[in-house]
Amino acid sequence: MNILVMKDYTEMSRQAALFIAASVTLKPDTVIGLPTGKTPVGMYNELVMLYKNGFVDFGRVTAFNLDEYVGLGREDPHSFYSYMQRHLFGYINIPPKNIHIPNGKAKDLKAECLRYEEIIRQKGPIDLMILGIGHNGHIGFNEPSSEFIPETHIENLTERTRKANARYFGSLQDIPRKAITMGLGTIMLSKKIILLAYGRDKADVILRTIKGNITPRFPASILRVHRDCTFILDQEAAGKIRDML
Ligand code: F6R
Repeated sequence: MNILVMKDYTEMSRQAALFIAASVTLKPDTVIGLPTGKTPVGMYNELVMLYKNGFVDFGRVTAFNLDEYVGLGREDPHSFYSYMQRHLFGYINIPPKNIHIPNGKAKDLKAECLRYEEIIRQKGPIDLMILGIGHNGHIGFNEPSSEFIPETHIENLTERTRKANARYFGSLQDIPRKAITMGLGTIMLSKKIILLAYGRDKADVILRTIKGNITPRFPASILRVHRDCTFILDQEAAGKIRDML
């Protein structure tokens, strides 16, 4: 596992965007996995700037988002589909047909999970997966569990995760209780993984990911057995692993 510690959030975001731009330049038909949340916002801004300045072309890229809330449609401003339009897809030249995000409003959610997994299988494996990390060690919306769930599935969100995302919704009640998430097996099949974290509140989870037991009770710990995984952190998120670097 490689660990890059950057000066601050801006540098972390820039470094991650440069990784993506380099991958897309080297392999124009890159298949990329993408997260939502507050962590990647700066990276998406940097990518939009790189695109607008002519440094990267997304015309042949395929994107798979990690997750979507159950019950929210594309048009819902709180959906991850809307988030991705607002922060990235609305400003770059990725063809709409190459954008894949689970349908949170599917009538048959199990069938939707199978459909999503099948398209990833057809277009994949994912070349470059970008991840954030939750305070309980979740990646995608793979919450702590008694087992690592390999494929796309429905996850019950923990109260902690719902509260962490409360800032985007009017009240806790409005936050969906379930999400469709890519599974850990599919994430681990990605050729390269980059995990981003910033801020003091992520220092403990980064320490536990790197040093704790590998267990489904702390899903991000599985990244330790990936062949090509890089963490890009700011100084604060790296605050508890300094002696290991
Ligand atoms: C969302 C996702 C989650 C987030 C994680 C961190 O698509 O995959 O695993 O990356 O909850 O969220 P932030 O960045 O808001 O701290």
